[in-house]
Amino acid sequence: MGLGPSLKVAVVVSGRGTNLRALHEKASKGNYSIAGVVSNNPMAPALDYASRQGLPACAVDHRVYATRALFEGALAEALDRLSPDVIALAGFLRVLGTDFVRRYQGRLLNIHPSLLPSFPGLDTHRRALEAGAREHGATVHLVTDAVDGGPIIAQAGLRVAPGEDVATLEARVLALEHELYPYVLERWARGEVVTH
Ligand code: GRF
Repeated sequence: MGLGPSLKVAVVVSGRGTNLRALHEKASKGNYSIAGVVSNNPMAPALDYASRQGLPACAVDHRVYATRALFEGALAEALDRLSPDVIALAGFLRVLGTDFVRRYQGRLLNIHPSLLPSFPGLDTHRRALEAGAREHGATVHLVTDAVDGGPIIAQAGLRVAPGEDVATLEARVLALEHELYPYVLERWARGEVVTH
């Protein structure tokens, strides 16, 4: 008989939450559990999903705080109430400041829709196509001060098809993301991810 999930993961979102859903669905078979969900966007579909699933969920709306530091203080309080071992950014659209990043250093993860270090930032699929990239994919990395620049933990890649458009590429990469993020957390829970 197993001891049940051992790694508590808090998921931080801004939008539709398909990665949240993949993490939650795969958590049921794994060694990690979703401790709760925090969104900076009160209207995020990800929050509706969390509520329907009975997950602790709340919004910390960045627009009501006068400074980034105040917003991030409130975000940290909401996260600390969940006592997570790991914080997984999943479609979180704000850049985090140094104090926040340092507070969770080594246990703050992000998923990014490109094979970093190629195409940090936004609009990665269009940029990959415009650059004529032959391979593309997704990266899970530790968050540091450098936007999309922290140590890489794992990547999943695909070959860009001749004449492929942005929509298909995005859908194919998203499907990879939905496998990659749960895979990383499962490995993390088993103590198989080494971070420095
Ligand atoms: C994903 O492509 C993720 O890599 C990026 O934003 C998107 C979020 O999608 N950071 P979802 O909200 O998980 O559906």
